[in-house]
Amino acid sequence: MERTLIIVKPDGVQRGLIGEVIARLERRGLKVVGLKMMQISRELAEQHYGVHRERPFFASLVEYITSAPVVVGVLEGPKAIEVTRATVGATNPVDAAPGTIRGDFGLTIGRNLIHASDGAESAEHEINLFFRPEELISYERAVDPWIV
Ligand code: PPS
Repeated sequence: MERTLIIVKPDGVQRGLIGEVIARLERRGLKVVGLKMMQISRELAEQHYGVHRERPFFASLVEYITSAPVVVGVLEGPKAIEVTRATVGATNPVDAAPGTIRGDFGLTIGRNLIHASDGAESAEHEINLFFRPEELISYERAVDPWIV
């Protein structure tokens, strides 16, 4: 079992797509084990996107993610990181396949609706950045044996 972090970004929240985005990931079989709404501070955003500090879009990325409330979640499942990234689609919605979240709802990279951890190391780092251990719940669902 793997865990990954997702953020429904400010555009997803403002457009009323929180439920749609999470529903698609849940329907895939992933289990929500942590979920909260928050306004990301500049300090937290700079930590979260720290690896991109030197990239030209860093300032606008921090501006965007801190501009309005977001919904942050932790999803669990087999290959959760890879499965979530595939369901989300390519980083630039222009390149995202129809049927993916960004391919169905996005138009530009600066408003690409959702963040999803890109590897095991970043998932662990990001989950610890946004959630305290007691905020994550391990539980069984009746459907689990029908999914895994
Ligand atoms: S990825 O998905 O991490 O492999 O993509 P990467 O290209 O490395 O981008 C890292 C994050 O920066 C965002 N990004 C941008 N934001 C604004 N403008 C431009 N031009 C831009 N290019 C990349 C991209 O969405 C990634 O953030 P997250 O939150 O992971 O989507």
